[in-house]
Amino acid sequence: MAGDNYIASIDIGTDKIALLAAEKDFDNRLRIIGHNICASDGVRKGVIFSIDSLSRVITKLIKETNKSFDLTPGLFRVNISDAHVTCTDGKGKVSVNEVVTRDDLDAVLASAMAMSTPSNKEKLHIIKKKFTINESVVVDNPLEMEAEVLESKVHIVTVSSASVRNIENCLKQSDLQVDKIVLTSIAKSHAILTQEEKDNGVCIVDIGAGVTSFSVFDEEGIVRSGVISMGGDEVTQEIAFAFDTSFEEAKRLKEFYGVAKSSALKEEKLIDFTQATNKEEHQLSSLQLSEVIEEAYREILLALKNELKHRKLDTIIKSGFVLCGGGAQVISCEELVRDFFTRRVKMGTIHRSRISGLDNILTDYRYTGSIGLLLHEDDLKKDVDVISNGNNGVMGKLKKWTVRNF
Ligand SMILES: Nc1ncnc2c1ncn2[C@@H]1O[C@H](COP(=O)(O)OP(=O)(O)OP(=O)(O)O)[C@@H](O)[C@H]1O
Ligand SMILES: [Mg+2]
Repeated sequence: MAGDNYIASIDIGTDKIALLAAEKDFDNRLRIIGHNICASDGVRKGVIFSIDSLSRVITKLIKETNKSFDLTPGLFRVNISDAHVTCTDGKGKVSVNEVVTRDDLDAVLASAMAMSTPSNKEKLHIIKKKFTINESVVVDNPLEMEAEVLESKVHIVTVSSASVRNIENCLKQSDLQVDKIVLTSIAKSHAILTQEEKDNGVCIVDIGAGVTSFSVFDEEGIVRSGVISMGGDEVTQEIAFAFDTSFEEAKRLKEFYGVAKSSALKEEKLIDFTQATNKEEHQLSSLQLSEVIEEAYREILLALKNELKHRKLDTIIKSGFVLCGGGAQVISCEELVRDFFTRRVKMGTIHRSRISGLDNILTDYRYTGSIGLLLHEDDLKKDVDVISNGNNGVMGKLKKWTVRNF
């Protein structure tokens, strides 16, 4: 049996649920010691619509994992994909008496994160960005530095309280507890983005089944995240509609024969398939299939482009896009996105400097979210009490964080 010193995560998706447990090695690297995956239930477009159904599949997943790996995790890091996510940079400013003290840091961070939220929303992440001394010098850690004025910036991500409660209640129903909740694209960014990519301006795009999530970073840190309520399911539905098939048959056609950029198709061939209304065997052309797929992907990319433009993020993304999620697994997805945005595009891969484990887990796109959850450690706001109790206790948690990190 593994020791008790491990952390666990669950990536709850529209299509699948992926669980990981990892132990911390002596050098602070994580080593994956348990994994399991199952089809999701009770989630639509990234949002829980049936706590009962989702809790049932999670309970089963946990039972199987306990049996296979002799692990009994009770505390989990979980993701959230909330289409109502909002992002703001909070700013704080204090005057300093000669050198910056810990109290100055606490005060400037507290004033930066003091933004009020509507009653139906709550702060999910408060992420430290840079400090500025005397309105000119930007530093990561100003402690003990000479200054007259100290300014700080924090990135605040808010989500719908109802979505947070649903996740907590779902895990509670499975006799589990929430360790922390992390926005899906932020979690995945820890697993696949390098510091250099972030510094140069990058957009991580996670094309899931029900949603497409993104986060944009520049040299100051995270800039904005968003969730678009479209994903691989829309592509599947378009195929089902175009060729009159069931959803399952359309998904099979997409995953086995799909090509996202029709001009990248090497040769046209005929594919056997079954229609929904007429069960006899039919054939369709791979080119036609690819054309339907390309159009559906272009719709998703257009929604993303509009969102990035609307938020004035398109000019920040200088080092391009990094793709992840099941929807990005379709052949020539990279080429299509490159063609669409005329920017650099690459498929995200797990960085192994902070995590190790079986190769087939580290290269399986379905575990990227769970790995990112295990690696997440950016927040000023640390644990679930804060999430559960609204703003209560933030200062206490903040103090703990500053003591630990400076
Ligand atoms: N080889 C493939 N070609 C095309 N699509 C694929 C392929 N593999 C998986 N997909 C699609 O990826 C989607 C599932 O991706 P993923 O597991 O990232 O979603 P999820 O995390 O469950 O959902 P979400 O994040 O949207 O809540 C499905 O639409 C599936 O059809
Ligand atoms: Mg997902």
